[in-house]
Parts: sequence; C-alpha cells; structure tokens
Amino acid sequence: MAESMKGLKRSHRCAELSAANIGETVTIMGWVQKSRNKGGLVFVDVRDRSGIIQVVFEEEKTQRSLLEKAAKLHSEYVVAVVGQVEKRSGAVNESLATGEIEIIPQNLRILAESEALPFPIEENSKTREEVRLKYRYLDLRRPDMQRNLMMRSQVATLTRQFLAEEGFLEIETPILIGSTPEGARDYLVPSRLHRGHFYALPQSPQLFKQLLMCSGCDRYFQLAKCFRDEDLRADRQPEFTQIDMELSFVDVDEVIDVNERLLKRLFEKVLGVEVLLPIPRMTWQEAMDRYGSDKPDIRFGMELQDVTEAVKGCEFAVFKGAIENGGTVRGINAKGQGAMPRKKIDKLVEFAKGYGAKGLAYAAVQEDGTVKSSFAKFMKEEEMSALIREMGGENGDLLLFAADKNKVVWDVLGALRLELARQLELLDKNEYKFLWVTEFPLLEWSEEEKRFVAMHHPFTMPMEEDIQYIDSDPGRVRAKAYDIVLNGTELGGGSVRIFDPEIQNKMFEVIGFTQEQAQEQFGFLLTAFRYGVPPHAGLAYGLDRLIMLMAKEDSIRDVMAFPKVKDASDMMTEAPTKVDKKQLDELGLAVIEEE
Ligand code: AMO
Ligand code: AMP
Repeated sequence: MAESMKGLKRSHRCAELSAANIGETVTIMGWVQKSRNKGGLVFVDVRDRSGIIQVVFEEEKTQRSLLEKAAKLHSEYVVAVVGQVEKRSGAVNESLATGEIEIIPQNLRILAESEALPFPIEENSKTREEVRLKYRYLDLRRPDMQRNLMMRSQVATLTRQFLAEEGFLEIETPILIGSTPEGARDYLVPSRLHRGHFYALPQSPQLFKQLLMCSGCDRYFQLAKCFRDEDLRADRQPEFTQIDMELSFVDVDEVIDVNERLLKRLFEKVLGVEVLLPIPRMTWQEAMDRYGSDKPDIRFGMELQDVTEAVKGCEFAVFKGAIENGGTVRGINAKGQGAMPRKKIDKLVEFAKGYGAKGLAYAAVQEDGTVKSSFAKFMKEEEMSALIREMGGENGDLLLFAADKNKVVWDVLGALRLELARQLELLDKNEYKFLWVTEFPLLEWSEEEKRFVAMHHPFTMPMEEDIQYIDSDPGRVRAKAYDIVLNGTELGGGSVRIFDPEIQNKMFEVIGFTQEQAQEQFGFLLTAFRYGVPPHAGLAYGLDRLIMLMAKEDSIRDVMAFPKVKDASDMMTEAPTKVDKKQLDELGLAVIEEE
C-alpha cells in the first residue's frame, strides 16, 4: 500500500543538489529511474524533472528495515527520501549533474508503486512514436521531452515579459466564432440553441485583433490557440499556438524592429545564442530567384541561376519549348558532386518529378574536364561550355537544370537544393540564420478556383506604389507583408493592414467577393472601420515551430504536450470519438454513415 507524505516536505529537486549541499539533510521526491541491489548495498537513482540523484542504502550506515524496503523498489516507483548529502564514495559520474554526490538515507517512503512500463524512461527513445503517444504521460517523463516543455514555458514567460515591457496588452479573444471560408478549412462546432447554425474555431485571432485596434488598445498580444483543418505535416498540427500581436500607428519597420528585439531576447536568454540585428531582409522576388523558395534556408549557398539567356539559341527541345512557353531555364551547381554515380543522379531526377518537373537535365563536369550530360547531344560544344561557364561550373561540379514555367522551376530547384543539402550534410542545427522575406505578392492565381486569392489574407495592405495596377494587372501588386524565416522554416508572418474601406472593398472585388458576400462575412469589421480606425499592422509566430527549432527537434509533435497524429486523431484519448444519439438529437444533427 502506498505510504503518505505526512510530515514530509520536499527541500530540493533532485538535481538542484550539488557539492555545496554536502553535510545537509535533505528531502527529495521523485521516480525510481533505476535500482541496483548488490546484497547489503542498494543503489537507487531518483529522478524528477530537474534530473537524477543517487541514493545509497548500505548495511553499515542504513537501518536494516530501510535496506529491506529499498530492495523492493522497482523502476518508476514514486519515493520520498530523507537523507544526508555526501561526497560520492565511488567514482564521480561525469554524465550526471549530481555525479559528485550521493544521498545516505535516514528515511524512505514508497508513495506509489508502478507496474512495468510499456517502454523505458530514457533519453532519445527508440520506441515507436504511436506507442509513445498512446502513453504520452509516460513519454513526457523522458528527459528530452521535459526539457522541451520547460523551454516552451520559458519562451512563453520571456515573451510575456518582453511584450509587456513594450507596452502590449494581453487580451483573450473568443474560441467560438463565426466561420470565414477564406483561408484553410474551419473546424465547426454545432450550436444547440440555433439549430443548423455553427460556430467555427478560430484559424487565428486576425479579425478580433484588428477590432481591438479599433477599440484603442494600441498594442495587443496573445498566446493564442488556433485551429486549422488541413493536412498534417512535420511542422503542422490541426491545433497549434501562435504568439499573436497587433500594433497601432506603425508601418513595416516598427513591427520588424519590435520582433527582432523579441527574437534576440529569446535566443540569448534561452539558448545563449547571439542574434545580430538587424536581421537581413530579402524581397519575395529575390528569395524566389535565388533560392526557389519564399522561406529560403540561407545556411548554405547552392543558389539558383537563371540561364535562360545563355541557352536561348540552342536546339535542345526541352529548353527551347519551355522558353517558347514563357518559362525559364534555371540551374544549380552542386559543387564537387561531378562524380555522383548515375543511379544517384537518377534518384534526384525522380525527386524533381515529385515536385512537378517533367525531367531534370544534368551536366557532370569530370575531373579531367570531360562532361557527362543527359542533353549534351542536343547542344553545340560551344553552347555547352558557355552554359557551364555561366553556371560557374568547374571540374568536378554537378550542374542540374529545370526548364518550365517559373513556378515549377522554383519549386523543383528549391526542393532539390534542400535535398542536396541534406544528402551532403550541409545543414547545421546549431546555426540559426534568420531572414525577413518582404514584399510578397498581394494575390496569387488559384487554378482550382479560377480566381485571384489573397496570398496572406484579404486584410493585407498593397504597397502604395503598386495600387495603380490592382485592376489592370493584379498579379503584379506587391503587399506590405513579411515573413520571418529561420533556417528554411516559416516561423511567422504578418502584414500592414488595409484600414481604408475603399481599398478594402477593392480587395474584396479582385478576389471575387460581391459587396453582399463581403458584408455577410466581414460586415462587423467593415462597419468598425467606419468609426475611426487607426493604421495598424501585426504579426504571428507559430510558437510550436519556434520551439521546434530552438530545441533542435525535427517534429513539431516533440514540443507539444499532447499532439495529434497524421490523421488528426489523438492516440491517447482516441479523439475524435462518436457521440450519443441524445447529444446529436439535441443539436439537431444526424450522421450519414460511410458505406
Ligand atoms: P499565418 O497563417 O501565416 O498568419 O500563421 C502564422 C504562423 O503560424 C504558424 N502556423 C502553424 N503552426 C503549426 N501548425 C499549423 N497548422 C500552422 N499554421 C500556421 C506558422 C505561421 O507562420 N493572422 C495571421 C498573422 C498576421 O497577419 O498577423 C496568420 O495567422 O509559423
Ligand atoms: P528527353 O529528351 O525527354 O530524353 O530529355 C532529355 C533530358 O532532359 C533528360 O535528362 C530529362 O530528364 C531532361 N528533361 C526533360 N524535361 C525537362 C525539363 N522540363 N527541365 C529540365 N530537364 C528536363
């Protein structure tokens, strides 16, 4: 039976103890990491969230009854130990923070027993993730997960402190809101009192934070839960947290300034990493041209090069056709990879096809200067050498080319660049390269919907000098939008907002909303804007993504306490679940069962 804690009070967390405590009598509480019984000598490692300390029960120093009790301990039993801190009698354990000391116990209580665990509590678990997630409460006992949760808490605290110092108010916005079809798919919640009506869970507090600016709150922030019913990926969850903010009477530079200082503070305090300010900025156009991505990883080079001019006159049908169709030919130079085996190159071609390429042309310059190429036979010798020269190709280099519409070429080479960096191990997780990407296009053409859609959201302000093209050439209009990118991940994004009802109406018009639709969906915002709206701008980070990068994890799931898996279900609670007929009846809902 479990013993009580009566009369005991914890004095320290396990790993808060050090040589400085030698001679003190302390009380620790935690889980048995490991116990080793050597007959008359029992070593017990006790663990709490701070770390581990060794407790030594030995015949000469410990009461017989205590020694017998210690011999009964198993992994993950919960214990309280009262004892004296002493210098280790055995060798110092370098791998433990408390490796110089041990506790010689005077009292031991078993607060809870434990059955055998489905997996060991250890760093770098090799257990399948599904099993870890089914027993998440155990998985979270592992030191790496505990560190991630502690880091997350520290980041949240520092963020609150910093933003409060900067004059931001923390304000909560509702979770049950109206559905707005623009953006990702909404999670819907049926209303009991209004049959056939639904709330939506917020994809972000966007509209509310803009309204708070109309309310004169001046600067708002929130650690906001957001919900998006989209396909899951390593850096995407259906429910995630934003550090969300909005500021009045500012333009792009002030938003960037406050956020750069926030990032600097976080990285210095949490990781001891210095972030040099200002963080470099790059326009969207330059990011696409140089890296084929709007979230470039600038930890390495291998930049894209436009060789359309250089190959314009050649007879290679692939290049010629693409150019005639209004596309371009671009390449990357994988330095020193000229000897890459054919099989491996073929794999790169397949990889490129996965990103929409029709093929991938290559030229491998050998150490002796000869060229192995999939398209040399279609080129004159001087055309080939001109192309290699244009690419800065030297002996031993591998040149890869894509020819297509710009979007395809960027996607393919952008992805290929990252794939090569992974293969060549060019990515260092200890290096943090921030980048602002600015001047995004305001609109992008949706083939699916056959209309322009807002690239960020429909409240984003066009750049003043581009407003003139909004009717004649909408695709050309750039927005006052910015993303903060870290090591190739989009950490956050935001924009200056439209605060002129006329421009807002124009925006709705170009994305194909009628006046009525705009009124119906965003009427409250448009009305609010009639009563004196301050110029405002904002930004939101994905907190989970930020922690993922800070903790050097590959998956967002490893920095969330209770994440969901690929099909958006929760392995532990098994949500989503079916509900009683009674509950459905109350809501006036019926389920159409799948065949
Ligand atoms: P946006 O849609 O770009 O902007 O979202 C901001 C940031 O939130 C994170 N994020 C996600 N993280 C995990 N899982 C997801 N499914 C997910 N979706 C987005 C990303 C992203 O950069 N209201 C605007 C911000 C603004 O304009 O102020 C917004 O939500 O890190
Ligand atoms: P083909 O004439 O189709 O055999 O193609 C010759 C070479 O060009 C092969 O290496 C193809 O992979 C490559 N290729 C085909 N389409 C493209 C494209 N759109 N961009 C770049 N290379 C391509």
